Amino acid sequence: MTQHDAVEVIIAKRDGGELSDGQIDWVIDAYTKGVVADEQMASLAMAILLNGMNRREIARWTEAMIASGERMDFSGLSRPTADKHSTGGVGDKITLPLAPLVAACGVAVPQLSGRGLGHTGGTLDKLESIPGWRAALSNTEMFDQLESVGAVICAAGDQLAPADKKLYALRDVTGTVEAIPLIASSIMSKKIAEGTGALVLDVKVGTGAFMKDVARARELAETMVALGKDAGVHTVALLTDMSTPLGLAAGNAVEVAESVEVLSGGGPADVVELTLALAREMLAGAGRDAVDPADRLADGSAMDVWKAMIRAQDGDPDAALPVARESHVVTAPSTGVLTRLDAMAVGLAAWRLGAGRARKEDPVQAGAGVVWHARPGDQVREGEPLFTLLSDDETRFTRALASLQGGYDIGAPGTTYEPGALVIDRVS
Ligand code: URA
Repeated sequence: MTQHDAVEVIIAKRDGGELSDGQIDWVIDAYTKGVVADEQMASLAMAILLNGMNRREIARWTEAMIASGERMDFSGLSRPTADKHSTGGVGDKITLPLAPLVAACGVAVPQLSGRGLGHTGGTLDKLESIPGWRAALSNTEMFDQLESVGAVICAAGDQLAPADKKLYALRDVTGTVEAIPLIASSIMSKKIAEGTGALVLDVKVGTGAFMKDVARARELAETMVALGKDAGVHTVALLTDMSTPLGLAAGNAVEVAESVEVLSGGGPADVVELTLALAREMLAGAGRDAVDPADRLADGSAMDVWKAMIRAQDGDPDAALPVARESHVVTAPSTGVLTRLDAMAVGLAAWRLGAGRARKEDPVQAGAGVVWHARPGDQVREGEPLFTLLSDDETRFTRALASLQGGYDIGAPGTTYEPGALVIDRVS
């Protein structure tokens, strides 16, 4: 590999230039090995945030991050593979019912997940509320479980795109998370290295998402779809609404409980709708679209896979889920129609109650979270419960209540409410 100099690479991007393939390969490799210092990479990340990267640069940056670690290979499995990635939202428990559902339709789901940071929850944190469940699997355990059960949700090992792990932590503390080239390459390096055959991206748009407007979400989706296709992964993206939180619960155990309701054939309509829309895309991407996933929810086979998936990772799917020690009910201040429920307000409240973490080493509370008793469009009555706040620590209620202030509107009785689309657009 040709040697470069970190300052030369930073200045090239600072002055609005294009980075060469050699510069990109060198800077990612040297940063992973500690030769390029954090402050130099932070400066380069800021230059990328301000000046952008073209498609060739983003593709090369992604390849260099993949090459910093190992690539998994599931081509030896007896069934095709498909995975889903969400850019993160509030109440977004969709992976939990989706992975076993798609597996029940004959497509293996290798889902390498992360923990939550900030107001969006992490899939592993949710599953860890199930007694005994273990997130860390070896590659052999993962392969065996994919063959026997069909679905795995586990922690990404240290060898999966290690350059991204280091860079993501740095971006988090240097105001450089929001750069589309950096988000797209971060997500896609992990998904391509994971070795899935098909990928469906759930790009969230709205107050509770990274991307607050549709134009930026579409740009992110188009960038990621192009990266996936270039790498030979069948990739499509759905832009979905995250101005309202999904379902009726945000937290850890409370989201597992809601996912189990969906797998039992019930659950909130929006969670079911999005689970089915993503399942159909995953099945189509894997070439198995003759199966209707709605049938697999109704006949209990998705639930059977869920139980097998939890047991295979030492969890007890029938054990009672943890319950928070304290609860606090917020009642509706007036009678009428709930016309707005803000995803960010609910996400922050759940986070402040202990469901999420401020620093990556912080523990989370399994029982903490927010349950809301009405969704936009529902009638509410003065004095009846609107939210239930859950935490092991009652001193957290005051700040959680502050984040819900201004986070919802109640219109006069009879107000008409026009729901927006949950699936806003599709990019392929
Ligand atoms: N999720 C990721 O994995 N990376 C980002 O940069 C943003 C969200």
